[in-house]
Amino acid sequence: MRKIILYIAASTDGYIARPDGNIDWLHDKKYNIPDEDFGYSAFLQTIDTTLMGHNTYREILGFDMPFPYPELKNYVFSRSKQEEAEHVSFVRDGAVDFIEKLKEQPGKDIWLIGGGMLNATVLNAGLLDEIILTYIPIVLGKGIPLFSAETEEHKLKLIPTENKLYRNGFLQVRYSC
Ligand SMILES: NC(=O)c1ccc[n+]([C@@H]2O[C@H](COP(=O)([O-])OP(=O)(O)OC[C@H]3O[C@@H](n4cnc5c(N)ncnc54)[C@H](OP(=O)(O)O)[C@@H]3O)[C@@H](O)[C@H]2O)c1
Repeated sequence: MRKIILYIAASTDGYIARPDGNIDWLHDKKYNIPDEDFGYSAFLQTIDTTLMGHNTYREILGFDMPFPYPELKNYVFSRSKQEEAEHVSFVRDGAVDFIEKLKEQPGKDIWLIGGGMLNATVLNAGLLDEIILTYIPIVLGKGIPLFSAETEEHKLKLIPTENKLYRNGFLQVRYSC
């Protein structure tokens, strides 16, 4: 069965965005390493579908660039009615059932983009298979957590062969759930 993989970056204290949703700290030029994308393009080859919460989708739309994943099947979760939009399909009801059925369909793996609220839904439902988490060497002190407060305790297993320390201080760890 295809896997659902959360591929995401967080501050060392576990936040994925500032309280207002800003992720400027993630794209600081001082972290650039020439010809290094931290496994991103290799990861993209393994997936054909994305899942994202409505807040994350709105942040993406606010970026000063075209929608980044036009070639993928993109699902945005929102409990309120949304107008149709280019590149994405909205899922309103029965998120867990929907994701369960998606996993049973043939295809490449599924990228859970986030954010923290949708991550909680997927983890609590036992549908998350792996996490590829890149820790950024910064403490934010406050922000939007990697998993929202509704998340239930869940033990993870480190995949020891899949961890990387980059010379800019990024630490990438891979867990199975
Ligand atoms: N650091 C990174 O790599 C990274 C990656 C991804 C996201 N982010 C950041 O994370 C932030 C957003 O995270 P977030 O926790 O605030 O929100 P989120 O999970 O992106 O979106 C939450 C919204 O998604 C909908 N939703 C969530 N669970 C649902 C369910 N089970 N069924 C139906 N709809 C559901 C609801 O939308 P409605 O309110 O419309 O009902 C909810 O308000 C953004 O700032 C984004 O930039 C960072």
